[in-house]
Amino acid sequence: MSNVTVFDDLLQEVREFPPDPAFTAQATAADPAIYRRAADDYERFWEDHARELVWFQPWARVLDWKPPHAQWFVGGKINAAYNCLDKHLGTPRRNKAAFIWEGENGEIRTVTYLQLHRDVCRFANVLRSLGVTKGDRVAIYMPMMIEAAVAMLACARIGAIHSVVFGGFSPDSLADRINDSACKVLITADGGWRRGNVLALKNEADKALEQTPSVRHVVIVKRPHGEPFPLNVKEGRDHWYHRLIEQASADCPAEPMDAEDVLYILYTSGTTGKPKGIVHTTGGYLVNTYATSKYVFDLKDDDIYWCTADIGWVTGHSYVVYGPLQCGATVFIYEGAPNHPGQDRFWEMVARHRVSVFYTAPTAIRAFMKWGRQLPAKHDLSSLRLLGTVGEPINPEAWMWYHENIGRGRCPIVDTWWQTETGAIMITGLPGLSTMKPGYAGTPFPGIEATVLDEAGNEVKTGSGLLAIKKPWPAMLRTIWGDDERYVATYFSKWDKKTYFPGDGAKRDEKGNFMILGRVDDVLNVAGHRIGTMEVESALVDHEAVAEAAVVGRNHDLKGQAIVAFVTVKGRFSMSDDLRKELSRHVVKKIGAIARPEEIIFSSDLPKTRSGKIMRRLLRDIADGRALGDTTTLADPAVVEQLRETYEEKYGG
Ligand code: WT7
Repeated sequence: MSNVTVFDDLLQEVREFPPDPAFTAQATAADPAIYRRAADDYERFWEDHARELVWFQPWARVLDWKPPHAQWFVGGKINAAYNCLDKHLGTPRRNKAAFIWEGENGEIRTVTYLQLHRDVCRFANVLRSLGVTKGDRVAIYMPMMIEAAVAMLACARIGAIHSVVFGGFSPDSLADRINDSACKVLITADGGWRRGNVLALKNEADKALEQTPSVRHVVIVKRPHGEPFPLNVKEGRDHWYHRLIEQASADCPAEPMDAEDVLYILYTSGTTGKPKGIVHTTGGYLVNTYATSKYVFDLKDDDIYWCTADIGWVTGHSYVVYGPLQCGATVFIYEGAPNHPGQDRFWEMVARHRVSVFYTAPTAIRAFMKWGRQLPAKHDLSSLRLLGTVGEPINPEAWMWYHENIGRGRCPIVDTWWQTETGAIMITGLPGLSTMKPGYAGTPFPGIEATVLDEAGNEVKTGSGLLAIKKPWPAMLRTIWGDDERYVATYFSKWDKKTYFPGDGAKRDEKGNFMILGRVDDVLNVAGHRIGTMEVESALVDHEAVAEAAVVGRNHDLKGQAIVAFVTVKGRFSMSDDLRKELSRHVVKKIGAIARPEEIIFSSDLPKTRSGKIMRRLLRDIADGRALGDTTTLADPAVVEQLRETYEEKYGG
């Protein structure tokens, strides 16, 4: 595990933060017995939460576990949109804001639960009129706007499966994802604003649509107050959202879905070049996202809750849409960049909207640190009462900065470990109960059995090893779309068929707190975004000049990890700066800007074992400027030496 960060040295000086009695007094989870109750009978624990949801038909069994597959609330009938919306309509929440949206250029839109319900029903009828039926796949490629959530919930209402693709992905990536699950409809927007520029999403989508035979209709949401720009609307295929919705009826009963019917597919990177379509089903996912939102974010009716994640990631699914809406929360969403027009944009909005619960990524916190404490200091952040982080390990220094400069020493911080695959938060402190330890994600959420194992599957009581989950949980992925073998091989083959392998290293302290050490596989975490090294390698070798490529992560102060690519070039091409730029552009074109290599290093050869395997560990050492590891198994040790020299000449080591 040479690619992991251990914060031990720093932790020696770091304090612990016991729960604040004032917070505990008002916390939803205020009794530590919740842990014991859940451990005594985890099925019963989840079942108790399931009872707080609205079911059209009760479940016959809580759990059917045929390792490595599990089914939850078997026989139950439920609808996700119903539990996010209709459930609240008979209560005073009906006239409360569900979403408050702010565009990058400052306009604000608010929709109440009643209004959101109406929009979702109308759009659900629109989808039906376009031929979408239960089980069909619908792709969503949108900026952060209320209609992205409307689109998701409209799919859920009629039992269509949504597949949201992050707006930063390239047309090629979008096309791959659409084709993998044969989406019938694509919902997109003319554009969105990012750092003062229009991101012309529909124009990007057009390039994908040349390669996606399954798509019959495209719905384009007009981003309010957007400046006009060239846009192609293909007669018969492309439709404006606002026109369709005008004519649609607001009467659309929610489809009773089987608890195990698929709610959505979300693609994520793995260790091969092909992203995995993670499949989430309905009942268990709803129960799990509801319970975690309720206890981890301690959501109250007067909270303004802001999770900064884009709807294109799982965090946007579970903790912008499905979790908080089931809790009847008011969710703030922001369209644009954190540094537009100024680097204090977030704090200015927290102050103006009176945000009380704030959830973001360590990479953002490190950027705020760099921009300076004087920026949050200018604003009234007294509305904040709880902070959270997700997406990557948070270094204690960033944790302390967040605690002091954003939480002003008053707010508990929940460091939440989970994954696209887990669907919901798995390891975290509970804000009214847990002693927070900077750098540690805390303990497993009640009902979750997490542990640390060594390669052979022996339990590591205290110390480092591999993170493992020993029991199924309601929001767990059910399979990989179209590839159940890959599901078994990736997640349930490391030890036995009952034990889930998340791909992370972890370390446990004497009190059972988990420190997450980062990925132990060939997956990078760049600014909280998950990128497979193989995906970037495939994008590189797709270029005519590239003979071979190996991609590794390098430690990076802001992004956590940065992408470093080692490339060997075909004989007739020269290793020029121009080629380097072109390759970088090529990766962006193939995958998207999030995969842009920070460095491309040309090399006449790559270090390989005698069996021809590229030795990434060595490349990581070179990229990080560390002393070289063991090279005795190399086919040609000279290659490494030469690579390191090239690298040091070029970049100063
Ligand atoms: C990977 C999952 C789940 C939301 C966003 C990312 C890393 C996630 C933490 C945390 C340390 C974390 C892990 C994990 N990760 N949260 N609190 N501390 N690492 O979802 O793209 O599926 O990535 O993100 O390495 O495996 P994702």
